[in-house]
Amino acid sequence: MDLQGKVVVITGASAGLGRAFARALVARGSRVYGLARREEKLLAIRAALGSAFVPVACDVADEAQVATAFAKIGRRIDVLINNAGLGRFGPLHALETDQWQAQIDTNLTGVFYCTRAVIPLMRAQNAQAGFGGHIVNIASIAGIIGNANISAYNATKFGLRGFSEALMKELRADGIKVTSVCPGSVQTGFARAAGSRGAPNPMQAEDIANTVVHILEGPDNYLISEVVMRPLRPRG
Ligand SMILES: NC(=O)c1ccc[n+]([C@@H]2O[C@H](COP(=O)([O-])OP(=O)(O)OC[C@H]3O[C@@H](n4cnc5c(N)ncnc54)[C@H](OP(=O)(O)O)[C@@H]3O)[C@@H](O)[C@H]2O)c1
Repeated sequence: MDLQGKVVVITGASAGLGRAFARALVARGSRVYGLARREEKLLAIRAALGSAFVPVACDVADEAQVATAFAKIGRRIDVLINNAGLGRFGPLHALETDQWQAQIDTNLTGVFYCTRAVIPLMRAQNAQAGFGGHIVNIASIAGIIGNANISAYNATKFGLRGFSEALMKELRADGIKVTSVCPGSVQTGFARAAGSRGAPNPMQAEDIANTVVHILEGPDNYLISEVVMRPLRPRG
């Protein structure tokens, strides 16, 4: 896909990976709708990137807010990057119900709400132009490998990879690509918010963004359905 002039929706665009995706895609000439709860962060990104970045305040775990956000975005969406996500790490016996629920609601149910909103639009684009669009789900290496103290997060990211693979098979005949991206540790605010130290020598968000741009720019009949990336030397 030539990203120039395309309409891209990124969830969790106010920080970390989502902000890096927004920067990379605006630089490619896309119009980027950035969803997140912290509107002031989105407005600061707009100030930095210009009018090609459109802030949309939205909690992806709230069905009504997602419906309002997509109604505002309009009838054309070429790319959806389901990136909003969080971890709440710790031993399972100490996990509060709201910590479990926040991970399920954001990392899985939010993806469901946003993906369901774009499928009819992408199907219509396929009927008109012969190519529907691209849905990129930001999973994690925690969707491939289970580890102590991240069981709930593991459950959401394993689930997201299963969702992506099933959806890839469901939508390919409609000219819609689905890709699952599985990074290891990236330097963002994620680890601290999750209650972990993270790897001492993580990857950079810009490097993940460059890979996502590469995935999106592939020829129409070329689908990279899953990518795993890791720091070469996570301990430095
Ligand atoms: N960093 C890593 O090491 C790593 C590794 C593998 C995978 N990932 C995945 O990468 C994705 C992005 O994480 P990150 O590292 O960029 O973390 P981050 O810096 O903490 O950013 C998380 C983003 O998600 C948004 N978000 C969280 N809950 C939301 C909600 N209910 N509705 C809308 N937006 C919401 C946050 O915005 P607001 O708070 O403004 O809503 C923020 O923009 C996540 O899915 C994460 O699981 C991260």
